[in-house]
Amino acid sequence: MRPQNLTTKIFLDSGDPGETREAIRILGFLDGQTTNPTLISKNPVACQRLERGEKFSKEEILNFYRDVVEEISALIPQGSISVEVYADFSTPAKEMIQQGKEMFSWIPNAHIKLPTTKEGLNAAGQAIKEGVRVNMTLCFTQEQAAAVYAATKGARKGDVFISPFIGRLDDRGENGMDLIAHVLTMYQKGDSHVEVLTASVRNIDHLLYALKLGSDIVTVPFNVLKEWAERGLPIPKDDYAYDSKNFKSISFKPVDLGKQWHEYDIFHELTEKGIERFSTDWNSLLK
Ligand code: E4P
Repeated sequence: MRPQNLTTKIFLDSGDPGETREAIRILGFLDGQTTNPTLISKNPVACQRLERGEKFSKEEILNFYRDVVEEISALIPQGSISVEVYADFSTPAKEMIQQGKEMFSWIPNAHIKLPTTKEGLNAAGQAIKEGVRVNMTLCFTQEQAAAVYAATKGARKGDVFISPFIGRLDDRGENGMDLIAHVLTMYQKGDSHVEVLTASVRNIDHLLYALKLGSDIVTVPFNVLKEWAERGLPIPKDDYAYDSKNFKSISFKPVDLGKQWHEYDIFHELTEKGIERFSTDWNSLLK
């Protein structure tokens, strides 16, 4: 059962509907799910097929992604399911919008994941105007979060998520959870139309601290949700202290939310690396 004092939405981070079923069983609730090209490449049915030496055509892989997403959507009809467009360094905004609109039509409860890059932000502004909900992915800085806020100004609350990737910052020795705290603080000066979705969660401390900070949403791998369930779904109390280990802290920057999105410096090397990894994993599925 959902703990009464839980205000953050809990999503599963997975491309496997089997894990969706199991997560609902062990938690007693689930508010949504995020997928991405890497997670789809790890889907057990896709893996079995690749083991047989049968790669997918472009059409087949999209049909497969659609089947997976439809199955998840039917399991969490009241929730949100994030579906990610294919984007490499040469994918223009126009193509992202085309893909996004197609994917948005697959299920009634989709958010379309677009990269937090120039083309992705361009696509997001257009998508929102056309009534397509978005989840801006591969965010690693406050400036990127400010650009998402600016690019989607006018959207309804709930139609825009931003996904800061904390685990990938931790992986290189920076305290990723600082970014969540800073984006939430920065957004307090805004109109709340963007919801913060803590992503790239690696362990239960990330989950607990996201709850303590009041992240709108947190997306969590199955093994971490399982540990949380085994511990009785604890919600951190006021005296909870996050252990930031020896990670280098990330400083808060007083970023003004009032600019045009293209006025922010949105470069981050992990965004570039992330695009490379997602596109490589997706292409590994193709004939
Ligand atoms: C979810 O939306 C993200 O794509 C996911 O959390 C990324 O996690 P990773 O950094 O473990 O790949």
